[in-house]
Amino acid sequence: IIYFLVFMHILIAYYIYTPLPDAIQQPWKLMMLDAYFRTGCCRADLAPHFGLLSTRGFEGIMKGLISESSPGPVPGVKVSDITFAGIPVRVYEPPAGGEGHLRRGLVYFHGGGWALGTTSECKYFGSLFCINKLNTVVVSVEYRLYPEVHFPVPYLDCLAAAKHFLSPEVLAKYAIDPERVAVAGDSAGGNLAAAVAQEISVDDSMSVKFSVQALIYPVLQALDFNTPSYVENQYMPILSRSFMIQFWVQYLNADLSLVPQFAVNNHSTLQHSAITPELRSRLDWNVLLPQKYKKNHKPLIVEKGSHGVLKKVPGLLDVRAAPLLAGPEVLAKCPRAYILTCEYDVLRDDGLMYARRLQDAGVTVTIAHYEDGFHGCFSFISWPLEFDVGKRALRGYLSWLQNNL
Ligand SMILES: *[C@@H]1O[C@H](CO)[C@@H](O)[C@H](O)[C@H]1NC(C)=O
Repeated sequence: IIYFLVFMHILIAYYIYTPLPDAIQQPWKLMMLDAYFRTGCCRADLAPHFGLLSTRGFEGIMKGLISESSPGPVPGVKVSDITFAGIPVRVYEPPAGGEGHLRRGLVYFHGGGWALGTTSECKYFGSLFCINKLNTVVVSVEYRLYPEVHFPVPYLDCLAAAKHFLSPEVLAKYAIDPERVAVAGDSAGGNLAAAVAQEISVDDSMSVKFSVQALIYPVLQALDFNTPSYVENQYMPILSRSFMIQFWVQYLNADLSLVPQFAVNNHSTLQHSAITPELRSRLDWNVLLPQKYKKNHKPLIVEKGSHGVLKKVPGLLDVRAAPLLAGPEVLAKCPRAYILTCEYDVLRDDGLMYARRLQDAGVTVTIAHYEDGFHGCFSFISWPLEFDVGKRALRGYLSWLQNNL
């Protein structure tokens, strides 16, 4: 029996153990968290049979973990569940200040691969923005998710709610300064925030526009899954490359059997005339990334890949799904940006490339890069899922908004 127990311990330790870079603090906590996720969800290699089941399992775990670890609502903050243009939203209002004082506004889209998550995960953030001298009215949008809907529905939900919020009547009702409204989101929510910011920036019918966009490790493109960060962090906890590709495939309503093809860039081969050299240059990390991140990586551009993928999955080339593909004339109109990136995150280079392209278009960008950060760290800020880097990232984010919104 002792041998059996020892054996079981080794087996469990093996399951939990994932080699992690030295820079990551509290590595065992992250390994436990990752093992927990791996148990609840399954990887893309099993996805064709269990894709749906797995995301549901993952969601249950996510919900349990986050609701248990997030502190309750902050006294004085008024929380209301209402709808904006038919889309459910949760509005957080700071305690009433002095008469005649206009407040800031912020629209937040939560993360979760367009398939998971809910506004209630933001209840702590929502309250934080209201207090902490930020004096911000926060609107967290409950956009619809996979598998109920696919692209472009989540994007359209977010856009409709954002436009409603920016209407002069609604801003007046909440006593918000129209010059101080932000759009923000993390991960897939950062994707939606960037896409919505672009659309509103070029929409001449909108009299009020966002003054800043604050993107936390955003997802921005689906043509290259072999950027240095995708390659280096393909097995990193919380978000592996295959999981991110699975989220994309689901969002774009494509067949899950395409996941292995996407992983080797077979979907963006040189054969496709629709991917012009001009379009390719918009995500050319060989040009857009600093040498520090390129290291010795070589671009993976496939000569002959799979036929017809772009026809079957038109979302791959749609800027509303992949905001990094937008042209410089659109980027030039975008609001000032804050982009948070993490070293140990497959999405690091998506964020860094977007920062560079916005800067090239003349937009002021603050890059907040966390050398010891991993995907999702921004959500893990309170016991028992508390990571020092998450707390630092949140503090940095709030202080940037304080000074820039
Ligand atoms: C990628 O495309 C090539 C050429 O069509 C094919 O031989 C290869 O099997 C594909 N790779 C995957 C993983 O599907």
